[in-house]
Amino acid sequence: MLLSVRDLIVEFYTYRGIVHALNGVSFDLDKGEVLGLAGETGSGKSVTAFSIQRLLPANAKIVSGKIVFDGVDLLELSEEKMREIRGQRIATIFQDPHTYLNPVFKIERQFLDVLKYNDPEIKALENKKEAERIAFEKAVEMLKKVKMPAPERVLKMYPHELSGGMKQRVLLAMAYSLTPDLIIADEATTALDVTIQAQVLEIMKELQKEKNLSVLLITHDLGVIAENCQKAAIMYAGRVVEIGDVKKVLISPKHPYTQGLLKALPRTDKEVELVGIPGTVPDLVNPPTGCAFNLRCPYAKEICRTKVPPYTLEEGSTVACYLYGGK
Ligand SMILES: Nc1ncnc2c1ncn2[C@@H]1O[C@H](COP(=O)(O)OP(=O)(O)OP(=O)(O)O)[C@@H](O)[C@H]1O
Ligand code: SF4
Ligand SMILES: [Mg+2]
Repeated sequence: MLLSVRDLIVEFYTYRGIVHALNGVSFDLDKGEVLGLAGETGSGKSVTAFSIQRLLPANAKIVSGKIVFDGVDLLELSEEKMREIRGQRIATIFQDPHTYLNPVFKIERQFLDVLKYNDPEIKALENKKEAERIAFEKAVEMLKKVKMPAPERVLKMYPHELSGGMKQRVLLAMAYSLTPDLIIADEATTALDVTIQAQVLEIMKELQKEKNLSVLLITHDLGVIAENCQKAAIMYAGRVVEIGDVKKVLISPKHPYTQGLLKALPRTDKEVELVGIPGTVPDLVNPPTGCAFNLRCPYAKEICRTKVPPYTLEEGSTVACYLYGGK
């Protein structure tokens, strides 16, 4: 097991009151595994990613839970140790590459800084010129790996001279250059047009296989999960409500929410009527008691409105729903 998140509870303190963003998130990720995390907007996907990196904003608090990475609870680490983990072992790629590239510096400067501060081999070199030369070579090599055209020229450019897809490739190259054990990609390809998105996902897949990396792939696009992940986790109102083998979850979903998500998805293989999930996602300042999905669920019964459903194993998937057990 590389990453094990257990009963993670995160709150935000806002002028509206306390936002109960994560309400007991649990999932495991093995070495070399790609886990897709899906769910409607506001379900807590990004807050989960930020919690793992311990990069939550100042108004948030991890109330309880564990995030065990390679045997160590990240929530117990000093900030200094956490910085090392962030730089070298867990890399994150976000949706909006502009935010993570500084517009006033050329790509070369930003890429070399990442390597000089985080790559142990380059960091250890006393001769600064030599360190710079090796870092440059490594940057070029990594840009070639992400199939960047003319990498030497790209390194001399400013971020605004690159397209969205090129910027995302630069960030991918930076993230993978440190050979992390875990990559968290939070809607990393959502802003790209479909053909570029497919290329970037293909590159991510190749790099993942080459180094046997673990990937937490966050997306609201179930098609992306079907094509790129071995396991799928579905989040609703700050909790994973179903997790299992990707084929099982997407072909024979167990949780009424997962079933609803799939019914709302356009199909090209057969003609089916699209049915949206009635109602809206609950306000997490005032979440419903019991199962958070109970106000929208066609099968809700009395217990659903009062007690949070425990996890049950159902045909290989883990589901939080009273239809499959729990009292
Ligand atoms: N800085 C913040 N202050 C207050 N509440 C926040 C903050 N960031 C997130 N939240 C709340 O936490 C909950 C989870 O948000 P999160 O960003 O994780 O959703 P998400 O699943 O990533 O959605 P999306 O698909 O839109 O990216 C939401 O209710 C959101 O309003
Ligand atoms: S626990 Fe109850 S309300 Fe929640 S999804 Fe299952 S049947 Fe529906
Ligand atoms: Mg998000």
